[in-house]
Amino acid sequence: MAVTLVDSHAARVALFVTGGIAAYKACEVLRGLQKEGCEVRVAMTRSACELVGPRTFEALSGHHVTLDLFDDETSPIPHIDLAEWADLALVAPATANAIAKMAHGIADDAVSTTLLACPCPVVVAPAMNVHMWQNLATVANVETLKARNYLIVGPESGRLACGETGAGKLASPEQIVSAALYRLRARGDLAGRRIVITAGPTHEPVDPVRYLSNASSGKMGYAIAAAAAAHGAHVTLVSGPVSLPEPAGVGVIHVTTASEMLDATQDAFATADAAILAAAVSDYRPDKAADHKLKKAAEPLDKIELAENPDILATISADRGDRIVVGFAAETDNLLQNAREKLARKGCDLIVANDVSREDSTFGADTNCVTIVSPHDEETLDCMPKEQVAEAIIERVHDLLEPDDDYLAPSSPDATLLMPKAGA
Ligand code: CTP
Repeated sequence: MAVTLVDSHAARVALFVTGGIAAYKACEVLRGLQKEGCEVRVAMTRSACELVGPRTFEALSGHHVTLDLFDDETSPIPHIDLAEWADLALVAPATANAIAKMAHGIADDAVSTTLLACPCPVVVAPAMNVHMWQNLATVANVETLKARNYLIVGPESGRLACGETGAGKLASPEQIVSAALYRLRARGDLAGRRIVITAGPTHEPVDPVRYLSNASSGKMGYAIAAAAAAHGAHVTLVSGPVSLPEPAGVGVIHVTTASEMLDATQDAFATADAAILAAAVSDYRPDKAADHKLKKAAEPLDKIELAENPDILATISADRGDRIVVGFAAETDNLLQNAREKLARKGCDLIVANDVSREDSTFGADTNCVTIVSPHDEETLDCMPKEQVAEAIIERVHDLLEPDDDYLAPSSPDATLLMPKAGA
């Protein structure tokens, strides 16, 4: 899922490739960033060009590669253009020399000069010989960069290109992409906001091998979690049993029953600004789950005594104060009438109503056709992929949240290699 910045453009990453053997891995980093929806432009040092041709990066990025301060036909001041264009500067691989220049403000080629001119956050992925990495000069330079809130990702330990074994190996392209997305998300329009989202069905056990449930796939809730994270929110996804990959940058709590979902949602909501409850919670559970597999010949399986489950949406809404709560209404009949009634009965800010009798809007589909119902208005969206519906819901939540004046961008000078997983 693309990172969405405050002014809604796709995130722009300036990738600085310096002269380490690992320069070829920067191609994979570039592709990984593009897959996450980022636009990437590249600047290279002369040494990096000895290792990988600039044409490779030109073809992959679709843009001219900045190599020189003076012989650049595309711009009279290439370093300022690139520095001002970028939302994030990523140096990968970063040699000991590149790190030293950044630490000391040296600007003697296109890469170092552009980096000095960059007002945006900087992520640095070092790669070098183990002794160069452990040299006290490099150690001090890295500390200087961390103190300036540069995010250092890696290096890892392993067998190095020089034949030695130890610390100095470039972090994996996935880790580097995750680090870049982590920094970019801190600039999103929901940065500093905490949002709890529920998704999927619940399973209510009849006995150890049987349960009551429904056909929810969890796709809508997972798409909302990914969209909220892409806007920079701190997201807790309380998920019933589904077979979906965890969205990148999202904290997932796996639950099985409605009662577990209620507990986890209440815990997460205690410190949250908003809740979006997209789970298809089972309304009833077997009153008593058997502790052994029921045998149909000997035990009654034709009747199950049911007990009503807690209504998570109503419980959360009752305790919301001025926080934002969004619910869903999955209906087969009288869509809007039922949605309006649920909005009033459950006491939330918005109800996202979808007609699950339609093939393009039913459980498990990749698209959804929804109307967003508020106490003041109703907005019917086109049928579209669940990712786009998720984006529309997150934009509505963003509009409902008051501006967060207290929020300051996170400062984590010691955040080394503690990145969320890439991909998903
Ligand atoms: N919901 C909930 N806890 C429940 C039941 C529903 O939190 N025990 C939430 C769902 O996550 C959804 C909203 O309430 O956001 C509406 O769910 P839905 O299944 O459409 O409605 P119900 O409340 O179950 O009412 P009905 O069965 O009458 O349609």
